[in-house]
Amino acid sequence: MSERDKYPADSGRRRFVKGVVGGAALAGVGATGAAAVNSATTSPGAGGGTTQAYAIENTDGPAPRGMPQIPVEVDSEGFLKGVWPEVKTEKQGGISIQIAETDDFKGSGVTYSTEWFQYCGVESYAGINPQYDSDNYFRVGSNPGYDWMSETYSEGDKLHVDDFTDYESWSNGIGRAGLGKPATGRWRSEDAENIIPIQVIKSKEIEEATGQDAWLEASTDEGFVAWLNKCTHFCCVPQYKSEGSAKFNAENDVYCQCHQSVYDPFSIVQTLFVARPRPQE
Ligand code: FES
Repeated sequence: MSERDKYPADSGRRRFVKGVVGGAALAGVGATGAAAVNSATTSPGAGGGTTQAYAIENTDGPAPRGMPQIPVEVDSEGFLKGVWPEVKTEKQGGISIQIAETDDFKGSGVTYSTEWFQYCGVESYAGINPQYDSDNYFRVGSNPGYDWMSETYSEGDKLHVDDFTDYESWSNGIGRAGLGKPATGRWRSEDAENIIPIQVIKSKEIEEATGQDAWLEASTDEGFVAWLNKCTHFCCVPQYKSEGSAKFNAENDVYCQCHQSVYDPFSIVQTLFVARPRPQE
């Protein structure tokens, strides 16, 4: 009996169980080889397949893994952007496709690719197309996640480093003050139907960890860390220091209110998962 027959899509409870089973099965891939995983990736489309990404760690709840990091750069004027990998043409199954991938990202030894973001339907968003025309800046969305943002920005503004200068004391009254200053936003989503949600934090924790690790050195800038803010469980948008998180000991973490998954934005880990292919163009 196939997994699909066992867990029909019409039952929320059964889908939940399936998510956990899939997560557990994937956790064993590193030890047992990728053959079983490859059989799940035969759907048509560009890219996808077994992918190793860096992520903010999932520490509690039903999510199967962390949320993928977006390498950050602060430009010469102080605006924050998410680095997009190099666009290349590759042959897959005899067909030329566009992919975006950077080998040895900034000398870290890590291959950074857009496959990191190909889950939860994001693989079909316009902004995930390697050639989508964007300046890659993080911009304020229509519903900012923090009061300080509503007081400082208008929708569409670019996040700026000067607006984070109080990061060593900032608090929204939830959890410990001074741990870091967060912002919500969107990336590569100008004029797009589907918005790619992101979150960033500027923190002393990140500044201090950076010198100890080549990947952190390459993927963070001036104490900023960023990630694709889509819960890997069922795709809700979580939040750092959010209402209701204290009940689940997540007041200093990123908390998903849908089913109480918790992520630690100061713990960057490698994750292994099956990225979904982009739809055929
Ligand atoms: S915990 Fe279920 S969608 Fe986030």
